[in-house]
Amino acid sequence: MSDLEFLLFLLPSVLALFLFFNVIRRKKNPIHLPPGNMGWPFIGETIGYLKPYSATTIGEFMEQHIARYGKIYKSHLFGEPTIVSADAGLNKFILQNEGKLFECSYPRSIGGILGKWSMLVLVGDMHRDMRIISLNFLSNARLKTHLLPEVEKQTLLVLSSWKENSTFCAQDEAKKFTFNLMARHIMSLDPGKPETEQLKKEYITFMKGVVSPPLNLPGTAYRRALKSRSTILKFIERKMDDRIRKVGDQGSEKLEDDDLLGWVLKHSNLSKEQILDLVLSLLFAGHETSSVSIALAIYFLQGCPTAVHQLQEEHVEIARAKKELGERELNWDDYKKMEFTQCVINETLRYGNVVRFLHRKAIKDVQYEGYDIPSGWKVLPVVAAVHLDPSHFDGPQHFHPWRWQNTSGSSPSSSFGTTMSNTFMPFGGGPRLCAGSELAKLEMAIFIHHLVLNFQWDLADTDEAFAFPFVDFPKGLPIRIRRHSLI
Ligand code: HEM
Repeated sequence: MSDLEFLLFLLPSVLALFLFFNVIRRKKNPIHLPPGNMGWPFIGETIGYLKPYSATTIGEFMEQHIARYGKIYKSHLFGEPTIVSADAGLNKFILQNEGKLFECSYPRSIGGILGKWSMLVLVGDMHRDMRIISLNFLSNARLKTHLLPEVEKQTLLVLSSWKENSTFCAQDEAKKFTFNLMARHIMSLDPGKPETEQLKKEYITFMKGVVSPPLNLPGTAYRRALKSRSTILKFIERKMDDRIRKVGDQGSEKLEDDDLLGWVLKHSNLSKEQILDLVLSLLFAGHETSSVSIALAIYFLQGCPTAVHQLQEEHVEIARAKKELGERELNWDDYKKMEFTQCVINETLRYGNVVRFLHRKAIKDVQYEGYDIPSGWKVLPVVAAVHLDPSHFDGPQHFHPWRWQNTSGSSPSSSFGTTMSNTFMPFGGGPRLCAGSELAKLEMAIFIHHLVLNFQWDLADTDEAFAFPFVDFPKGLPIRIRRHSLI
């Protein structure tokens, strides 16, 4: 028998033995998956899971599955066997064990559109390096010195364009505000300039593709978004080349570093391709989520006059004190006085759930409370389900900012005594906690400050936030405004 024949004989035998012992092992220790339904072949239960529903609920699919199987169940979603978790403890366990037992795992289409170097899809050392850059750029020090004045400037720019007794889509206005802010902060683009407006147009097409089915076929939103992606990248690349050309032979030390583009060119060793994806992913992460949160706050507040009244009192006091000191622009101390505003922000994030669930996969076989989560399975921590769970939040179906009072801004008064780090996770958690959470809260607070001081508003048409699962107002949240001046 030749060596090759021997090998060909040996390999199947070894494989058969391996399978045999595996079956025995499984028989001895049968794997205990959570209950659930794997649905249809390949598509599983994805269509039901993604069916739009009111953003202030968990949706029929989730409700029925939790009622039937409990807060941890198995399913087949996004083409993969999946464990879905509406359980606060498991959600925290998943997020805290990033890189050890679980790993970030967004559908491939997200990488296709945001880029392979996007922070949302990177894992391991490369993710860490990109994260450090983002955190540096969004540090508290920069928030105080650079971002707060810019946030106020962009807020006033949007609000000053609102005409007395006019009706418009509040969601578009919130988008204008957060886009202008990010475009300035990332690439020093001025709002209203033709190049900024052109970029905004491309970006809108790009966003429609991010949230549409990933079908790269002629005429689809996804195909159009891929085209916009390459236009946007060319735009950023031109900006990058301009900066490098400007300093010429003097080297990168001479580059200005007061926007993200300048900062990465000067202080990092990232390649051109990596910088482009980083810039695009920060534009995406920082624009969409914050604008929806502001639109949600406008929506919830118009239904809660008592909260608006209390906000007015808080902001009138801040504004009066400034007037007495002869100061105009808000500063960090003023921001820190916005205590009830923080309650409104927390409640908006809890009730509106801008990011409803996160995409992870198990990278090892994991056991949790008697259940097995096999390595390679997709895992979805559904943070929205915990935020709307009556066992964690009293009357979760009510917008009630007062639940956050006397909780040092992070935990609500709950008759069930749960600690907050388990139950309130609008910004995710663990090593991938949102890098822009403080900026997002600052944006909301400053916007609310000038909004309640200068305007009254009500809904001009019925509208409601829906989870598609990305949160959106189908009619754009039409509001009617009247000016008032409280100081
Ligand atoms: C209310 C607004 C916002 C919400 C609800 C939100 C939510 C989140 C969540 C849940 C994650 C975690 C994703 C995951 O673990 O898979 C995340 C990540 C991230 N967010 Fe935000 N975000 C908001 C605003 C912002 C802003 C203004 C920025 C600034 C540019 C930003 C930048 C980022 C970045 C860079 C990451 C990736 C962090 C990492 O992977 O290490 N976000 N965000």
